[in-house]
Amino acid sequence: MTPDSNDVVARAKRVLSPVLGRYTWLDIERGEGSWLHLRNGRRILDLTCGIAVMNIGHSHPAVVRAVREQADQLMHICAGVATYAQNVEYAEALGEVAPGDLDTVFFCNSGAEAVEAAIKFARQVTGKPGIIGFRGGFHGRTTGAAALTSSKSHYKVGYAPLLPEVYIAPFPYPLRCDHGPHSADECAEACADDLLRILDHTVPPENVAAFIVEPVLGEGGYVPAPPRFLQRLRAISKRFDILLIFDEVQTGFGRTGAMFAAERAGVVPDAMALAKSLGGGLPLGALIAPRRLHEKWQTGTHGSTFGGNPVSCVAGLATLNVIRKERLADRAETVGEIIVEELRPIAKMPGVGEIRRLGSMVGVEFVTDKGAPDKSQSKAAIAGALERDVLMITCGSYDQVVRFIPPLNIAEDDLRKGVRAFVDAVKSGAQKAAVH
Ligand SMILES: Cc1ncc(COP(=O)(O)O)c(C=O)c1O
Repeated sequence: MTPDSNDVVARAKRVLSPVLGRYTWLDIERGEGSWLHLRNGRRILDLTCGIAVMNIGHSHPAVVRAVREQADQLMHICAGVATYAQNVEYAEALGEVAPGDLDTVFFCNSGAEAVEAAIKFARQVTGKPGIIGFRGGFHGRTTGAAALTSSKSHYKVGYAPLLPEVYIAPFPYPLRCDHGPHSADECAEACADDLLRILDHTVPPENVAAFIVEPVLGEGGYVPAPPRFLQRLRAISKRFDILLIFDEVQTGFGRTGAMFAAERAGVVPDAMALAKSLGGGLPLGALIAPRRLHEKWQTGTHGSTFGGNPVSCVAGLATLNVIRKERLADRAETVGEIIVEELRPIAKMPGVGEIRRLGSMVGVEFVTDKGAPDKSQSKAAIAGALERDVLMITCGSYDQVVRFIPPLNIAEDDLRKGVRAFVDAVKSGAQKAAVH
């Protein structure tokens, strides 16, 4: 018997843990390109990409073909047990597209695991314990990654003590900066100076293994770091022999208008944590860093059963090849420009505090009449968009930001219609608020 939609949702509520926060209970049957098909026949435009994973859309034929063929050949053996070409080929390809001398890969299964690997790698390679993260950063749910996460304190409720020797420095967020109001560059300088003060007052550089930073805050509100800030981090980290590690889990694989956001800032980090689009829709994470650093990471002190499994590797490589061949990093810039153009009718509305963008990562931050973060408007906007068959999600420490994460190859017509649906939802929300 095929259960109807309501059955599945009701059954989900009985057997799946309520610990998982959910945006919707939509009952999805299949995905195709930029579209999701529900079991009740409804079709919805997906502007979430499964939270920045499906950068070339759902069930891309090249990825499906690669997965099918690989499943027929070998699904798992464990890279620690035997060597297989799919693992090596993907590592080689990642080395080709990663910035600078980042050419050696440790594969794991998720973003949190990639960050966890980064923490262990940095500690062992430098022989120092301290890790400095940046306010608003999100790095995952394991205890190490959660310790470094400061997008919401909610993620730490009931879990203390987390990882020791983790410190949080300011991240340049001009709209909400304690030092502001000021320009992005002034904000970058002020935050980098604050980091120096942390090294003076709180933790000596001799104890700090790494700075781990998202080049664009993802869960923290789609806030791009000004290039100047990342450049200052590079200079400070070099000066004190601290590793600079970029968490490009959300920003990677063309999303920001370059293969990696590091390129947008003209900075080569010492390592990058990767996941999400890395696996082309299957679970995969990675830490990529220069060979000379990986050689200091003692064999056998870290590992993974599933990390870099053959099916995830071919899905990821097929995805990367489409991104390269179809120049989707360049397309991301156009996608972002179109979104901002379509957002013009609401850009000056009193409830819209800021529209910010790097490549195709566009965030619309909602504010109260006093400029405070306003979750009620962002939540109403995504609910209104969904009524218009467009799936969107929020971000920001207060869920006050709506983020656009379309597939990088989305048809222009679909994209424009999707953004217009959101604009309509925002306008009608504002009208309703005015009536009440
Ligand atoms: C920047 C960043 N790092 C790490 C993670 C954690 O990734 P995962 O959920 O695959 O563990 C996320 C997830 O949203 C992320 O956005």
